[in-house]
Amino acid sequence: KYLDSLNGKRVLITAGPTFEAIDAVRGLTNRSSGKMGLAMAQAALDAGAQVTLICGPICLPCPPVDKQVNVSSAEEMFAAVKNEIANNDIFISVAAVADYRPAETYPHKLKKEAEVLTLTLVPNPDILRYVASLPHAPFCVGFAAETEQIEQYAESKRRDKKLPLIVANDARSAIGSDDNALILIDDDGIHPLSTAAKTVQAARVMAHIAELYARYP
Ligand code: C5P
Repeated sequence: KYLDSLNGKRVLITAGPTFEAIDAVRGLTNRSSGKMGLAMAQAALDAGAQVTLICGPICLPCPPVDKQVNVSSAEEMFAAVKNEIANNDIFISVAAVADYRPAETYPHKLKKEAEVLTLTLVPNPDILRYVASLPHAPFCVGFAAETEQIEQYAESKRRDKKLPLIVANDARSAIGSDDNALILIDDDGIHPLSTAAKTVQAARVMAHIAELYARYP
């Protein structure tokens, strides 16, 4: 039912993990595969939207979006989002952005010299929070992967980041897998979506987004 529901609308999506370099060959990342973000991009295309996809390092074929920007670190993803956000109607932040990055990145390969090696991490910018607080913010959708108190933590993130909609899931079953169970949380309350393939879930989530967006001020 969502086919053509976003005709002519512009949708910006982030997907995949980020990679925070430690030195020339090493870095910190997470196990996000990018599957859900890519499925959301395909669902947005199916809904008739013009789609820009900003991708962290992933190893999957991307859907035929209107524009794709590949990035590595959270800071690069933030720069790309700032660059692309103008004139978008909807921002869907699916990426598993690293919360911290090494305070220092060494341009050479670190040698195995120290008995104990201590890494200092500094916080990354919160991209979604930034976009949601822009003066003419697009309709913003967040994703929340949690391992406990899924609904409570997701709802507090939704309120904290001022999002009309957050999509919550269990990080343990969602990361890397082909299917997942989701809980949509908006101003009307919670809407569970029972386990299905991520492609199916993405279509359901996009239908919900289109419905909410249609009544968005
Ligand atoms: O706070 P948490 O990382 O769990 O929030 C999840 C949501 O915020 C996701 O939609 C994620 O893409 C976004 N996020 C972000 N920038 C960060 C951290 C999270 O855009 N630095």
